[in-house]
Amino acid sequence: MDQKMVDAINKQINAELWSAYIYYAMAAWLEDNDLPGMATWMKAQAQEELFHADKFFNFVTERGGRVVLSAIDDPGTDWESATAVFEHAYEHEQWVTDNINALMDLAIELKDHATASFLRWYVDEQVEEEANTSAVAQQLRMVEGSASLFMLDKELGARVFTAPTAAAE
Ligand code: FEO
Repeated sequence: MDQKMVDAINKQINAELWSAYIYYAMAAWLEDNDLPGMATWMKAQAQEELFHADKFFNFVTERGGRVVLSAIDDPGTDWESATAVFEHAYEHEQWVTDNINALMDLAIELKDHATASFLRWYVDEQVEEEANTSAVAQQLRMVEGSASLFMLDKELGARVFTAPTAAAE
């Protein structure tokens, strides 16, 4: 694999791990603000990011590249409200989508068909990632400050992370 592609994927591995770190930080904030269901949701989201990082890790290794890890940025500690947490998560996912699209552009430029094919999974995944975070932000805008927040928290607490099976990947 072209070293330019390896470097770009290594950067993305860092971005995925940073995403997990941000979502764990959000889970901690949600726990501290008596929203344990949303904290559970965010922890599942963090696990998903670790899965995304691991999938890139395995791909680089499989193709004979070298995974190089670098420092992870500060994830932040404070948000104004639960709505602000999920709005930030949605904005963050849009940023991740831009990164994935840039990786795809590079794979196409380098005529690296194997990487382009691999990246298609992430392109599809980002549609879901944006939709999920945006939907919760939307629901929160409607209920934050009302008694319905408790019900929404309970509902979101049902989320469980399950790694996609090989067939579904
Ligand atoms: Fe790994 Fe949420 O994108």
